[in-house]
Amino acid sequence: MKAVLLGSGELGKEVAIELARLGVDVVAVDRYAGAPAMHVTPFHKIIDMTDADAIRYLLIEEEPDLVIPEIEAIATSVLVDLERDFPVVPSARAVHLTMNREGIRRLVAEELQLPTSPYCFVDSPEEMREAARSIGLPCVVKPVMSSSGKGQSVLRDMNQVDEAWRYALEGARGKSVRCIVEGFVNFDAEITLLTVQHSGGITFFDPIYHLQIDGDYAESWMDLPGETIEQAQDLAQKVVKALGGWGLFGVELFLVGDEVIFSEVSPRPHDTGLVTMAAGDISEFAAHARAVLGIPVPPPQRFPQAVASVPIKVRGKGRPILTGLDEACRVDSSVQVRDFGKPYVDGERRIAVVVARGASSEDARRLAHRAASKIDVMLVD
Ligand SMILES: Nc1ncnc2c1ncn2[C@@H]1O[C@H](COP(=O)(O)OP(=O)(O)OP(=O)(O)O)[C@@H](O)[C@H]1O
Ligand SMILES: [Mg+2]
Repeated sequence: MKAVLLGSGELGKEVAIELARLGVDVVAVDRYAGAPAMHVTPFHKIIDMTDADAIRYLLIEEEPDLVIPEIEAIATSVLVDLERDFPVVPSARAVHLTMNREGIRRLVAEELQLPTSPYCFVDSPEEMREAARSIGLPCVVKPVMSSSGKGQSVLRDMNQVDEAWRYALEGARGKSVRCIVEGFVNFDAEITLLTVQHSGGITFFDPIYHLQIDGDYAESWMDLPGETIEQAQDLAQKVVKALGGWGLFGVELFLVGDEVIFSEVSPRPHDTGLVTMAAGDISEFAAHARAVLGIPVPPPQRFPQAVASVPIKVRGKGRPILTGLDEACRVDSSVQVRDFGKPYVDGERRIAVVVARGASSEDARRLAHRAASKIDVMLVD
């Protein structure tokens, strides 16, 4: 069995490890050499994954049994065209619809009629102004194609429209200038509900709560399901069924009082789900690997304690070298560190994650933060 992994970052690395454990030959693909997943598999390819011809050529050359997209920035229309010959997981439709905010928002809000924030799609600053007027301030502006908060801003004043438009265009992936304007959801909490669609049905992990700073996750923790869990699971189940295919999905939801509102979904493991590496018997990566291979995924069994994760980020230029791992692990016996092994950073990048367990979520979060504070990062040439 041979799988082509499109995207070889830290999440892809863990998926590659889990697939290798199940006997799959993984070809790790990315646009640069030495990407995290390339450290754990002997087969690598370096291509521009936004180039449709490059993807087509790669698939014809490699003839994989499975294509596993691990990032959004892929020429997904080729995957749709070639899916008959090269099966895509969870499905080419899921990957294609979710790489553009318009595809997934229209499916969830208009076809499935599930609750989302109010929204409009706009193609100019004038349309943005009109949308903000009709939705009401504050509202959130995002390019339809972007991730990790790139190009995203909150509009609190009509005078900010031109700036929000410029910022969105700068952060957009690809050539589209289209943006979504969303009503600002004043949520009590936001969660990722990891939902596995597999040969034996649908399985859920416990909800993962998270804090985002500038559109990027700053900590996540897994907690017991609250009263809205059935509503959340029902919504997540409808979304993954409509997207189709076997695999793990990260369904992002806002909790507002006793209401659950859909935000977005990744048809693959989620960064906030790194916390599952220390949560119980099966991580989100192992669940994804099993599901895509047609192996059933029983409900994950949790350790009795709560669990939290804190990513380690660095800003600057150079090869990151982590020190202080020993001190971090001495903070508590439950602490684990994963160095992603990124060969080079330029700008702000996430380079490692710390996970820890505690008697309560507060304890687990405190321990993970304390352990993270013991780690130093050097950037060398
Ligand atoms: N309509 C909204 N109301 C309030 N907050 C929002 C809204 N949309 C997004 N946010 C906040 O911004 C964060 C990032 O938004 P979103 O997930 O849509 O962007 P993204 O670029 O796809 O990020 P990622 O790739 O990290 O998931 C959300 O997790 C949430 O904290
Ligand atoms: Mg998100």
